[in-house]
Amino acid sequence: MTAETGAPVIVVLGSINMDLVTTTARRPVPGETVVGMEFVMVPGGKGANQAIAAQRAGAAVRFLGAVGDDVCATELRRALTDSAVAVDRLRTVTGPSGVATIIVDRAGENSIIVVGGANARMTELDGDDLAAIAAADILLCQLELPIDTVTAAAGHARANRTTVVLNPSPARRLPADLSANVDVAVLNSGEYDQLRPDLTLVPHVVVTRGAAGATYRGPDGTLRSQPSPEVTVRDTTGAGDAFTGALAATWHRGPEWALRWACAAGALATTKLGASTAIPTAAEIAAAVAAE
Ligand code: RIB
Repeated sequence: MTAETGAPVIVVLGSINMDLVTTTARRPVPGETVVGMEFVMVPGGKGANQAIAAQRAGAAVRFLGAVGDDVCATELRRALTDSAVAVDRLRTVTGPSGVATIIVDRAGENSIIVVGGANARMTELDGDDLAAIAAADILLCQLELPIDTVTAAAGHARANRTTVVLNPSPARRLPADLSANVDVAVLNSGEYDQLRPDLTLVPHVVVTRGAAGATYRGPDGTLRSQPSPEVTVRDTTGAGDAFTGALAATWHRGPEWALRWACAAGALATTKLGASTAIPTAAEIAAAVAAE
């Protein structure tokens, strides 16, 4: 916790992408061209979205990641600093930044293709990165960086009693030396179906279920369901990131509180177009929770 504000200190080790978002009434089938409705370029990436979400939900966040030396880099960096996320451990590497091509349909459902770019170059953690992880309350990771880097960070966090929150997305089987060091896993129901065997030893598992809210399984087998506030959905992109960032920021208050805040944050994030641009503030989340 920071001495000044008492906010939890969260290190996010993750991706940062430029999202190229196109809205369309209907997705094209292979070989077909359809006319879209809107196009926007907005900063995204699961790591950056979750960092911004955790900071807006009340945590003090430091971002470990990489941008390229291309035209996207300045705007990506600014997206973090505009939300007061600390970027002293954000590297600039030669080559392109991460890019995500996103199609959003009439129902607000998305399809995403991610090209890692600079994110794939995050293969080493230096002494300053490791010191930041050791000093944090929470290490928050996803799987858009090389998995060996995530595994090394989680091991270092566990050795230093930093709580490890993992959003294993995009889903892939987890090496045993990663899952053994995860305290809290946060994933959607499709990812859970794929990764269930790797999560048996993870003490806290949170599964997001879209408009139906989320479920929680605790270390003693406790089960809990949290419904989501009803909202009008515009774009579901980044809703899971808003959920995960808010959950990490409020985890110190206990799973019940954190789940309520996370469900409200995730629901609010679906009401606007884009990922990082749709993430709610603590005041907006608090108002939604109070209105339940
Ligand atoms: O979770 C949404 C994010 O996934 C997008 O911002 C995109 O960049 C991809 O990483």
